Amino acid sequence: MRPFSAVVRLLLLHLFLSPTSALDFLFNSFTNITNATDLILINDARLDAAAIRLTNDTNQFAVGRVFYPTKIPMKPTSNSTSVTSFSTSFVFSVLPDIASSPGFGLCFVLSNSTSPPNALASQYFGLFTNATVPFVAPLLAVEFDTGQNPEFNDPNGNHIGIDLNNIESAITTPAGYYNSTGGFVPIQMRTGQNVRAWIEFDGTSLEFNVTVAPANVSRPSLPTLTYIDPKIANYVSAEMFVGFSASKTQWIEAQRVLAWSFSNTGIARDINTTNLPVFQLVSPSSSLSSSAIAGISIGCVVFVLILASAFYLYWRKKRTEGEETDDEIEDWELEYWPHRFSNEELREATGGFSTDQLLGSGGFGKVYKGTLSNGTEIAVKCVNHDSKQGLREFMAEIASMGRLQHKNLVQMRGWCRKANELMLVYDYMPNGSLNRWIFDNPKTVLGWERRRRVLADVAEGLNYLHHGWDQMVIHRDIKSSNILLDAEMRGRLGDFGLAKLYQHGEVPHTTRVVGTFGYLAPELATVAAPTAASDVYSFGVVLLEVACGRKPIEMEAAEDEEVLVDWVRKLYFRGRVGEAADPRINGEYEAAEMEIALKLGLACCHPDPQRRPNMREIVAVLVGEAASATAPAHLLSELARGDSSIGGGDGGSDDLSMEVAPPQLQQPLV
Ligand SMILES: *[C@@H]1O[C@H](CO)[C@@H](O)[C@H](O)[C@H]1NC(C)=O
Ligand SMILES: *[C@@H]1O[C@H](CO)[C@@H](O)[C@H](O)[C@H]1NC(C)=O
Ligand SMILES: *[C@@H]1O[C@H](CO)[C@@H](O)[C@H](O)[C@H]1NC(C)=O
Ligand SMILES: *[C@@H]1O[C@H](CO)[C@@H](O)[C@H](O)[C@H]1NC(C)=O
Ligand SMILES: *[C@@H]1O[C@H](CO)[C@@H](O)[C@H](O)[C@H]1NC(C)=O
Ligand SMILES: *[C@@H]1O[C@H](CO)[C@@H](O)[C@H](O)[C@H]1NC(C)=O
Ligand SMILES: *[C@@H]1O[C@H](CO)[C@@H](O)[C@H](O)[C@H]1NC(C)=O
Ligand SMILES: *[C@@H]1O[C@H](CO)[C@@H](O)[C@H](O)[C@H]1NC(C)=O
Ligand SMILES: *[C@@H]1O[C@H](CO)[C@@H](O)[C@H](O)[C@H]1NC(C)=O
Ligand SMILES: *[C@@H]1O[C@H](CO)[C@@H](O)[C@H](O)[C@H]1NC(C)=O
Repeated sequence: MRPFSAVVRLLLLHLFLSPTSALDFLFNSFTNITNATDLILINDARLDAAAIRLTNDTNQFAVGRVFYPTKIPMKPTSNSTSVTSFSTSFVFSVLPDIASSPGFGLCFVLSNSTSPPNALASQYFGLFTNATVPFVAPLLAVEFDTGQNPEFNDPNGNHIGIDLNNIESAITTPAGYYNSTGGFVPIQMRTGQNVRAWIEFDGTSLEFNVTVAPANVSRPSLPTLTYIDPKIANYVSAEMFVGFSASKTQWIEAQRVLAWSFSNTGIARDINTTNLPVFQLVSPSSSLSSSAIAGISIGCVVFVLILASAFYLYWRKKRTEGEETDDEIEDWELEYWPHRFSNEELREATGGFSTDQLLGSGGFGKVYKGTLSNGTEIAVKCVNHDSKQGLREFMAEIASMGRLQHKNLVQMRGWCRKANELMLVYDYMPNGSLNRWIFDNPKTVLGWERRRRVLADVAEGLNYLHHGWDQMVIHRDIKSSNILLDAEMRGRLGDFGLAKLYQHGEVPHTTRVVGTFGYLAPELATVAAPTAASDVYSFGVVLLEVACGRKPIEMEAAEDEEVLVDWVRKLYFRGRVGEAADPRINGEYEAAEMEIALKLGLACCHPDPQRRPNMREIVAVLVGEAASATAPAHLLSELARGDSSIGGGDGGSDDLSMEVAPPQLQQPLV
């Protein structure tokens, strides 16, 4: 009885659905594929040597998708809770240009649209949106993720997961398979090796099985991941496109699909993996080895040369490093970091860290200008640290920040560690730091319009650190020398997170105040826990500094005018705040606009952290053109209230000065 009823059900199902809804295809290779007829290639996806390559090398924020040209039925009606079963199998290869700098892998996807609304590139697979735009059209993906994004709770840089309308996976598991005896065999998905995946979805039990294994291993009997979600129908529309998607940042990675089969009527057909192409990076030493086998005599010469140069390199390394050979790469370094440069590479780029290339030096170490062999200009910041443990903790943190990307942050390109010296590689900023433009008498005085734009840029960058991520990132060391100007004279915030380095070196659980004297919020003297509000304070000091053309603390000024914030505040209480403006840009601005900027700076420097505006509000004032009339009124009311609560008048405002900082802070930490 049972098999019979199953047959009847199947028959009924077939009668019920239109004949075109049954879909069963197999691409055992992608030679002779026509775009739009056989498959739809979106954006950067291209046919490439019998495979489909999703992203390209030159487009920094490449996005590529490939879809089967017709939608497949997934639900009988749009509000049905039952979903159609499907089965798919494919072979993919993920090959980063630099093994230690992987990209983000790829996704198998069911999507209501070939171009999902608000889809973002980089770590969002070209599919998902960020937290600020929560709604997306029905989207269901299985990710094969080769990079760790702590902000999305990724467990490691080599996992599979199921994503339901959300870049944060509903479930993840490390990549690997269960062998015939039930042992788990991990696989590395980002070596370029061909990996085969199977996905089975049962629309009745609403169960997913995902299995991955190297392409030359036969299908494991146990799935790698099983996931059941009774609400799956919410992420599925009546008809959906089925395909693949990937995206990247500046870290080059080729994500390829080599073969694909799909069926919604049974198990997807088996892929014949015997003749699939294999993608590997061309090893630079291969030409050397082929010449070596050309003849014994040549081979001998090469051998001797290699021996000699190896000996020379060893000797030079010993000589330059002294006793220190602690340069081995540790696992955690590979796990976290975007791009590891070799010490040699950076040495060459900076002309041997020559003093001619020195851009500056400070408490964190020296900064050199460099040029990579491909012509890219970089800035190399050398940071010394006395404890390896501290360095390790710090790196884990900085590593995740390496993935932060915003037009108003100085982009980190990679790193190199030699013993306890860390070298951080950043984009080179040709116009140097903001303080030089304000104080160092450059040939042209920076006009108000430019100053205001730079302040708005920095506010946007800081707003991104505070609010643009799931985790709030506190900068801790906002000051004009940490603000850099790019080729277009736009402001970018540098050194985010670096200040924390000094904390990690301390005895655990004690927090030492880090930052720079003159920019530190007064509450840090007593609480010593940096917050978003203490960053806002420092930003306020920078704002006043830029508007007034005065350093935060001027030792040469009259005694009661030493501290910039106090001086501006006093002028404000006397109703003459406009007089604080930098006389060098006199007449370039509307008085009302300058007053708003100065008041905003004062509001940021409010002694009570609770009353300072947040970065979102500050951006609204600085970026909004027409905002000048309305926004500040609401914002700056806090300033007025702060005024009354402390009694007002000159005497009262003195209590707010920064001189509450304890003696140990008198030492500049620059
Ligand atoms: C691809 O097409 C060419 C000509 O159009 C044909 O000669 C070749 O056999 C085809 N290759 C495959 C794998 O179908
Ligand atoms: C493929 O076809 C689609 C739809 O016709 C089109 O939008 C897309 O630009 C094409 N892609 C390529 C790589 O030709
Ligand atoms: C990569 O993408 C960019 C922008 O879409 C395009 O200009 C460039 O030609 C592409 N390069 C290759 C090799 O396809
Ligand atoms: C589906 O929802 C629409 C409105 O949202 C309703 O009109 C329709 O009756 C529903 N269909 C079923 C089968 O529940
Ligand atoms: C799916 O896309 C179609 C157009 O292709 C649109 O009409 C429909 O509203 C979309 N469904 C959902 C749930 O977004
Ligand atoms: C299965 O994997 C385990 C380790 O994960 C290994 O010890 C065992 O030998 C493997 N069995 C077979 C049959 O390969
Ligand atoms: C998933 O795998 C389990 C264990 O092998 C199996 O019992 C179940 O039927 C599978 N489900 C699907 C949808 O393939
Ligand atoms: C699969 O291929 C890899 C590399 O080509 C090889 O090391 C491994 O032994 C192969 N495994 C099987 C089961 O053939
Ligand atoms: C797989 O393809 C190869 C040649 O491409 C062929 O010799 C072999 O018989 C095929 N295997 C199966 C199971 O079809
Ligand atoms: C989130 O995405 C929206 C729309 O793409 C964009 O405007 C916004 O800047 C993004 N936010 C972050 C923090 O990346």
